[in-house]
Amino acid sequence: MNLKISASLVAIACAVLAGCATGPDAPPAALADGQLAQPADYKTWPKFISNVQRPDIKQVREIYMNKVATTAVRGQPFPQGSQFVMENYAAEANPDGTLQTGPDGKLVKGKLLAVFVMGKNPGWGQNVAPELRTGNWIFAGYKPTGDKVDADPVSCRGCHIAATPDGTKGAGPARDFVIRYDQYFDQKKAGLTTEAVVASLSAAHGGISAHDLRSVSALQR
Ligand code: HEC
Repeated sequence: MNLKISASLVAIACAVLAGCATGPDAPPAALADGQLAQPADYKTWPKFISNVQRPDIKQVREIYMNKVATTAVRGQPFPQGSQFVMENYAAEANPDGTLQTGPDGKLVKGKLLAVFVMGKNPGWGQNVAPELRTGNWIFAGYKPTGDKVDADPVSCRGCHIAATPDGTKGAGPARDFVIRYDQYFDQKKAGLTTEAVVASLSAAHGGISAHDLRSVSALQR
């Protein structure tokens, strides 16, 4: 098919579908830092990493991922359309300033301080200087009231762009600028192993209880 014909076919298809630019399949508009909304339903999303312990900054964090992000494959960037939401909670402190721990030895989640969002789509995040680019990821931060945090969201890029060898502080391009990248895939691999263990135990003992299943996964925390 020559170019002219295919171009006019696209034009006809656009007319029939009532506008390519605004239709449901149109690519999302190019967004910049601070323009990504806090998703209303993120608490129903799968967890990326739960109960992140940050005694150094007196916080506990919960990180959620949207469905698209769950299809990511280790060694590859997260697919376009991926989003993460991270809740930052204050860790409860004792009157002497030391941090409280619960029966499980973990920090105790106090009040919500902020909700951080990051998402990627083709064309997003290209309005910053090349050395600040994090692929197509853009960043936004919200107070519990829903207002934007005071910090300029461009400042979010600093930590996510830096590559540290173990990925505990920065992520860099090898981890698609997602700081808990390695931990997520390690945890996912461990989860698969749990299923394999449960399946083999089931086969050997003719069934396994929910309690056994919980004990197996508790071993892997
Ligand atoms: C001081 C360094 C630093 C800055 C600045 C920073 N982050 Fe992060 N971010 C981290 C670390 C470290 C993690 C991993 C979780 C943890 O250990 O607390 C993280 C994790 C995240 C995650 C979960 C996905 C992932 O990368 O693991 C999101 C979403 C996120 N940050 C958004 C933001 C937003 C939005 C801002 C700006 C408002 C921001 N971050 C600024 C260090 C930073």
